[in-house]
Amino acid sequence: MSKTVFNGFNSNEKILHHIDKVNNFLSAGKTLVVTEFDLTNRCNNNCPACVGVKENGAQLTWDEIQMIVKGLKNLGNRGVIVSGGGEPLLHPDFIRTLKLIKESGMEIGLNSNGLALNQEMADAIAEYCTYFRISLDAGSPEMYKQTHGMPADCYYRVLDNIMLMSETKKRTGSAVSFTVGFLTGADTVKDMEAFVKAAKEYGAGAAQFRPFTGDSTDISEEYK
Ligand SMILES: C[S@@+](CC[C@H](N)C(=O)[O-])C[C@H]1O[C@@H](n2cnc3c(N)ncnc32)[C@H](O)[C@@H]1O
Repeated sequence: MSKTVFNGFNSNEKILHHIDKVNNFLSAGKTLVVTEFDLTNRCNNNCPACVGVKENGAQLTWDEIQMIVKGLKNLGNRGVIVSGGGEPLLHPDFIRTLKLIKESGMEIGLNSNGLALNQEMADAIAEYCTYFRISLDAGSPEMYKQTHGMPADCYYRVLDNIMLMSETKKRTGSAVSFTVGFLTGADTVKDMEAFVKAAKEYGAGAAQFRPFTGDSTDISEEYK
């Protein structure tokens, strides 16, 4: 009898890894698989086209975090994507939140701009996360200014932090999938190649392209 193999990278097929949840849904049971969890609306970047929510600077307390994680676990949720909102690394309980989610039996994906990363955080990410994506969105300080609204020294600090994470992953033998992200669009397409070179040079495991919301610029030539 042949065994069907699902492609884990195809979002249309991902749910087929969780057939029990589909059956649960059909019988009106617990159906959560992955939940996005925004710890804080505070941010240390200034992306002009930001789709996050960061106007009010609101932030969860440690009590609220514990209550939500417990609730997610009770609902049978399997994975938590820690994102924003704002920038998750700015939350004072960031490290113990990762530990709590992992020890509650759920997997963790993390999206961050990478600017505030330090060794202690990198060690925790290596230990607890299944994936970690740094949103770089540039291959030059000029493009970083355009996409993140931040000066050149911040671009170079994020590159150094990509190397810090890459070295931490190697040193600890962590299985975390460590990638850097780039938002494609008519204004950013020219930096795609430089972005891939920088991602490789600084040790990211993979470079990910996805479009700015609503931007359907054809990137197939640059991608090749
Ligand atoms: C709003 S940020 C919050 C998490 C974290 N601060 C970060 O930079 O990854 C979440 C993701 O939204 C993406 N993003 C920002 N503006 C966007 C836009 N206009 N269209 C699509 N994605 C966008 C960022 O690249 C980032 O990966």
